[in-house]
Amino acid sequence: MTVHFIGAGPGAADLLTLRGRDLIAACAVCLYAGSLVPEGVLAHCPPGARIVNTAPLSLDEIIAEIAAAHAAGKDVARLHSGDLSIWSAMGEQLRRLRALGIPFTVTPGVPSFSAAAAALEAELTLPGLAQTVVLTRTPGRASAMPEGEKLAAFAATGAVLAIHLSIHLLDKVVVELAPHYGADCPVAIVWRASWPDQRIVRATLATLDAAVGTEMERTAIILVGRTLGAADFDESRLYAADYDRRYRPVGAEPRFPEAS
Ligand SMILES: C[S@@+](CC[C@H](N)C(=O)[O-])C[C@H]1O[C@@H](n2cnc3c(N)ncnc32)[C@H](O)[C@@H]1O
Repeated sequence: MTVHFIGAGPGAADLLTLRGRDLIAACAVCLYAGSLVPEGVLAHCPPGARIVNTAPLSLDEIIAEIAAAHAAGKDVARLHSGDLSIWSAMGEQLRRLRALGIPFTVTPGVPSFSAAAAALEAELTLPGLAQTVVLTRTPGRASAMPEGEKLAAFAATGAVLAIHLSIHLLDKVVVELAPHYGADCPVAIVWRASWPDQRIVRATLATLDAAVGTEMERTAIILVGRTLGAADFDESRLYAADYDRRYRPVGAEPRFPEAS
């Protein structure tokens, strides 16, 4: 018996890995983390599978579900939205499973920041403008931020910020970021990236408030940085005609002659 942790992707049912789909189809039990896991993903469960929404359960109750499946010799598909490496609460479940000696695997998923960037048709790292993306959030009721992980501290680097779990604090986010990025810095908000009701607002830090209006939907990513919507940036040296590299040796004395 194995518990398969699977990143269920950002929303669109076909943004699930093939491995994730096949594991879901092979598990007699499916535990999924609430409304951000789409029904289209749950449709891969085999007929008769036990399908449980864990949103209303405590960690103890979730582990009890897994322990019961373990005792019955039934594999479990454990689904979380997006990817499992960020804000999935997988870490605490793995710690319990290790202590109980219950085997598990981890299958990554498409994170929501990637889906948001795709919706914007954006490369977030553009030569000469930004080469770093910070995946972050603001403090929540259930999660304080460690000292030092302040938005302003990240903003001081000029990196692109992908701010999660914070749309309800948009005013504060803007106030904190404007001194670092400038009021004319581009911002994009993507609500429910890849879902049928996806919504996009593009603005600047100065115009964002008016552009967003009274939108209350909380599932949104706030992207801030100079690469958003930029047309004026350097081309990558990697594809420059005169750039000598292993797979495209150039010149009389290429750096990697053995590849030619
Ligand atoms: C608990 S976190 C889960 C993050 C997830 N593990 C991931 O890889 O993106 C939930 C937050 O992720 C963001 N999010 C998740 N799905 C989203 C989507 N389809 N569109 C925009 N933001 C999304 C929102 O900021 C939301 O508040």
